[in-house]
Formats: sequence, C-alpha cells, structure tokens
Amino acid sequence: MDPRYLSWVCTALILAGAYSKVIDLSHAHKPNTFMVPGMPKYKWNQISKRDDTKKNNYYETGSYSTGEHGGTHLDAPAHFVKGGLTLEFLPIENTIAEGVMIDCSEEARQNPRYQVTVEKIESWESEHGPIPQQAAVIFNFGWFKFFDDPVKFVGTSAAITDNFVFPTISEEAGEFLLRQRDIKIIGADVMSPDPFTIKGVQVDGMPIHQRYLARNRVIVENLNATDQLPPRGFRFYASPVKFHQSTGAQVRAFAVIGDSTGGNSASAWNGAATTVISLVTVALLAALVY
Ligand SMILES: *[C@@H]1O[C@H](CO)[C@@H](O)[C@H](O)[C@H]1NC(C)=O
Repeated sequence: MDPRYLSWVCTALILAGAYSKVIDLSHAHKPNTFMVPGMPKYKWNQISKRDDTKKNNYYETGSYSTGEHGGTHLDAPAHFVKGGLTLEFLPIENTIAEGVMIDCSEEARQNPRYQVTVEKIESWESEHGPIPQQAAVIFNFGWFKFFDDPVKFVGTSAAITDNFVFPTISEEAGEFLLRQRDIKIIGADVMSPDPFTIKGVQVDGMPIHQRYLARNRVIVENLNATDQLPPRGFRFYASPVKFHQSTGAQVRAFAVIGDSTGGNSASAWNGAATTVISLVTVALLAALVY
C-alpha cells in the first residue's frame, strides 16, 4: 500500500480508538435557579479582590450559599431515610454508572402528567437490549428546555408543590428498575422522579425516593440536555462535594460517550474493541516502517 494512504488509515484508527465525547448535563446554578420550595436560592459574595494590573497581580475570592435541593442536584439517602448516608459518607461509586437514556419526550409533550410505565421500559429494552445491572437510567422528558420558566417546568409560578405538574416515573416502573434491573442511579430532566399530584390529587409518599434512597441508590434531578444522550453506550457521572451532614447537593452531571472504564460486559466489549484497534494500528505502523 502507498505509505501516504497507510498513514491516513493509521491516524483514523488511532482517532477511532481514542474516541470519546463529553456531554454536559448540568444547568448553571444561579440566583434565580429553580429550587425545591423552601430551599434558599444561590448567593455569591465577593470576599476579596485585588486588581493590580501594573504588577500583573490579580486575585479574587468569594463565598456562596445555597439550598441543597435545587438546580441540577443529587439526593443523598439522608434526604428520605432516618440515619441514611449523608454526602460525606456516600461512596463515590454510587454516583458513577454505565448509562442508558429512555426517551419519553413524545409522551410528555402530549401529556405533562405522563408517568413512565413498565411497558415503556420493556419496549425500550426490546429495541435497545436489556438495561445492564448497576446502571444509571436517565429519562429524557424534553423538560430541561422549560427549566428557566416555572410555569412550564412545574405548571405554576406559585411555589406550592400541591399544584406542581410535570412528567414522572410510575411507582411500578421505579420498582421494576430497582428490583428486576438492580439499577444504581435514576435521573431525569424534571425536579423529581415521583409526582406531587396524581390526577390533581396530592400524593401520599414518594415511593421512588423512599425505596431507592433506603438502598443507597441515588436520584439526580433537574438534568439538562438529556436529549443529547444516545440510548446506551455512555458513562454517567454525578459526584457532589462531600459536604458534612448534607442530604444532597448540586452536581456537575455529565456523560462520557465511549468511556470504557468499569467492569461490566458492555464496557468490557468497548475495551476489547479499543485493544483490537490499537493492535491493528501498531501492526500497520510496523508495516509502514519496515
Ligand atoms: C443547558 O444546556 C445547554 C446546552 O449545553 C446550554 O446551552 C444551556 O445554557 C444550559 N442551561 C443552563 C440553565 O445552564
């Protein structure tokens, strides 16, 4: 083969082997960011600032305060479980998982009270294959687009959860994912996987919060840009700071497509593919040199 072509082939193979892409799934955390009612909004205060341009000497610091539950954030077990783990003690493994994305944006567009059913999950699996164990299951309702407008995001501008309306996950679907699929993280682009009202009536309890957090499975709420995720083939990250006594905190949630760290079958295949590509690349380079 012409060495020029060979070098292009090698470059393409190296790029394919190293392919990965990061998707930012977080909303900026700002003073007007939507918070769970009762949670203080974000505040930032400047502590010091020195701007001595002549000496090329710039320095600035601040402090911030915010409610735990608001913006793109993670719920720790202590949020709904007496004596449950606070962020300080939540293992980091519980905040990282192989991800799948279930697109429910069409259902939610037709019905803002839509609740994901077990059938919806089974039909996703018949198209995309089984949800792996210990997965992060991310629901895209197309609701992240409404995040800056409470009237669209929760159906009202009044901060009264009794009147909140947004798409959610049914108790049965939550239970199915927990018991039958042994998932580790549940996430969505809405403020809660559990509804506050069903058919206009205030609900009694938050089954997904209660059951997941009791098993140290975490919940990630108010995700952004969930429509950018592929149905599978990514790793999901939502690791908060180890805040003392905290029941939750904002996270920089993101996904890495083509991330092959971790030890389950899908990522082992990814790793194997990368190894094969690397070996072929080395062989071609050797052929080029000799
Ligand atoms: C949500 O994500 C989009 C796409 O990355 C970005 O343009 C937008 O600013 C994000 N929204 C917020 C509130 O940060």
